[in-house]
Amino acid sequence: MSESFLQEQFAERIGGNRFGKDDTIYKFEKIKRAKRAAIEANPGVELIDMGVGEPDEPAFPIVVETLKEEAGKAENRFYTDNGIAEFKSAAQRYMEKQYSVSLDADKHINHSIGSKSALSLIPAAFINPGDICIMTTPGYPVLGTWSKYLGGEVVNLPLLKENNFFPDLTTLTDDQRKRAKLLYLNYPNNPTGANATAEQYKTAVDFCLENEILIVSDAPYSPLNFVSKPLSILSVPGAMDCAVELHSMSKGFNMTGWRLGWVCGNELAVSAFASVKDNADSGQFAAIQLAAAKALDAADEITPAINEKYSRRLSALAESLRGFGFDADKPQGSFFLYVGIPKGIKGGRSFESGEDFSQWMITDKLISTVPWDDAGHYVRFSATFVAKDLEDEKRVLNEIASRLSDVEFEF
Ligand SMILES: Cc1ncc(COP(=O)(O)O)c(C=O)c1O
Repeated sequence: MSESFLQEQFAERIGGNRFGKDDTIYKFEKIKRAKRAAIEANPGVELIDMGVGEPDEPAFPIVVETLKEEAGKAENRFYTDNGIAEFKSAAQRYMEKQYSVSLDADKHINHSIGSKSALSLIPAAFINPGDICIMTTPGYPVLGTWSKYLGGEVVNLPLLKENNFFPDLTTLTDDQRKRAKLLYLNYPNNPTGANATAEQYKTAVDFCLENEILIVSDAPYSPLNFVSKPLSILSVPGAMDCAVELHSMSKGFNMTGWRLGWVCGNELAVSAFASVKDNADSGQFAAIQLAAAKALDAADEITPAINEKYSRRLSALAESLRGFGFDADKPQGSFFLYVGIPKGIKGGRSFESGEDFSQWMITDKLISTVPWDDAGHYVRFSATFVAKDLEDEKRVLNEIASRLSDVEFEF
C-alpha cells in the first residue's frame, strides 16, 4: 500500500515526516511489555504493581451521591466554559481553610480539566519562540513539552538529594535568566516525594520577582503531606505577584478520572490562562464541579483518611527496603518512595541503570516500579498498589519482602 500523503504533512513538533516511524521504545511501554511477559512466564503468580500514580480507591460516597443527584438536572446540562461559581467558591474556601491563602474567587481562581490540561495550556499564554521554560528533572514534563511545541526552549534543573530535591536556581546563566518566562515547581514532588519549605519557596519567589519569571507551582499532591500542614507557595510574601498554583481533585480526593482541578494565584496570569482555555475546551461537566465542591467542603473528612493510608504504606515500605540495604527515607508527601538502585546482586549480576533494575524487578520478582535515570539512578515505588483491606495491605508488603529475601544486594 502506498504511503498516505499525511506522512508528509505532520508538524515538526511531533517529528514531521518521521512521525510514527521512530522505533525507540519509551519507558512506560517497556514496563508494559515486561509486565506482560512476566505474567505469561509465571502463570498464577501475582504481579505487584507499584508503578501506578493514581489512588487505588473510588471517590468518597458523598461525592458519588452528589454526582448522581446533579447529573440528571436540566440546569446542569450546559457548557460550563470557564467554570461555575459554586466550584470557584468552594476552591476559595478550601484555599483559605487548608492553606490560609485568601483569594477572590472571581479574580484569582479558574477551574481546569485537571492539572495536566492546565500545564498544557499555560505555555500558550506566555511562550514565544526562543523563550525559556525552566523545568525540574526527574519530573512531570507536560509544561516543558508544550513550551517546546510553541518554539520555546527547556532548561532542565536536576533535583538532587544533596539539595533536598529543590532546584539550584543560581546555576542559571544570565542569558537563561533573561529569556526565562516560566519556572516549574512541583511539591510534594513526583517522583522524589520531597516537600518544599516556606524558605525554599521564598528563594524561588525572590528569584522570579528579580528575573521577571512566572512560577507554575504544580501541586496535585499537596493534600498528601506526611510531615506538616500542607503549604501553598501563594502563602509566601510576594508570590501573588509572580506565581500560579495548580490544584487537583485527582490525588487527595480519589477523583483521578473525574478530570477536575483549578489554577489560582496571580490575577493577570489566571485571566491569561482563562483566555487560552476558553479557546481549548468548554469546561468540565457542572455535575462534576458540584460533586467536587462537596468534596472540597468535606476535605477534613476525606483527605486525612487518604493521607493516613498512604503514609502508613510508605512507612512500612521504606522500613522494609532499608532492611535490604536501600537508602529509603520515608517521603515527606505524595504517593512515592524514590530510592537509589543497588549496584548489583552479591555473586550475581550488576545493574547499570534504574531501567535495568526495574526490568529485573518485573521479570524476576514480578514487582513493577518506575525507573528514573535523569539525575542519578533511581526507581519509584508507588504506595497506590491494590489491597482490599489492612490485612491484604500487610500481605502485599510481606510478599514484597519475601520475594526480595533470596538475594543480597550490593550498594
Ligand atoms: C506532578 C504531576 N502533575 C500533574 C499531574 C496530572 O494531574 P491531573 O490528574 O490533575 O491532571 C500528575 C499526575 O500524575 C503529576 O504527577
